[in-house]
Amino acid sequence: MKKIIAANWKMNKNSKEAVETITELSAILNNSLPDEKEVIIFPPFISLEASTHALVSGPFQFGAQDIYPAKEGAFTGEISPSMILDAGAAWVLTGHSERRHILHENNTFVGQKTSFALACGLNVIACVGETLEEREAGKLYDVLTAQLNQTLAKLPTPLSPERLVIAYEPVWAIGTGKTANNEDIIEAHAIIRELLKDIIGTSVSQTRILYGGSVKAENASEIIKLENVDGLLVGGASLKAESFAKIICA
Ligand code: PGA
Repeated sequence: MKKIIAANWKMNKNSKEAVETITELSAILNNSLPDEKEVIIFPPFISLEASTHALVSGPFQFGAQDIYPAKEGAFTGEISPSMILDAGAAWVLTGHSERRHILHENNTFVGQKTSFALACGLNVIACVGETLEEREAGKLYDVLTAQLNQTLAKLPTPLSPERLVIAYEPVWAIGTGKTANNEDIIEAHAIIRELLKDIIGTSVSQTRILYGGSVKAENASEIIKLENVDGLLVGGASLKAESFAKIICA
């Protein structure tokens, strides 16, 4: 399976800025990707449709940063799966640590979002990861177990394996400039692979596991070669076309 390089733009870029970055990125890459890579860009909701229409035929896929697990109705401020699909996007992020910690989303809610999005035809990158406090208390395994068990509790079946991706993002490495070291990444990805075996069974070798947390052009090529690392989820360093292009080609 191809490696995924994903750009999480968070609360950055209006429509005009998003289109400019996508156009510039495409120009740097000659409108094509390295053979073994897929690129997914997650703009803010308000810039999503402009982003998916930025290029007549571009090499990028698109996703939303969040979703509400209902078809429609009285959910002020929320966005449904069909609205995301209608905007031309195919992917959604669930369980990002900023939503867990700033917006207080718990594992149950992340699980509802994940299963509903998949059932509605969206592909999902579900994020997991421990805080520094949890790591220092030796709780890495327990935290990942609880997050994965609940996030993946009610997956629709059958589910083709390329539609669900896990991102390991240690909370202490996100936006801090502190990357997890190679041993930390290998250990966490091995735990996730093992847990996935129990939760989703036979297709697990095809479930891609991304690393995220202060990935930049300088460390991307080393991280992406580590065992069980099937791609990268990039925040800050994906905002500039030039640095993101270097990560894609790393
Ligand atoms: P960062 O963010 O690359 O800026 O650390 C990663 C993420 O939050 O997905």
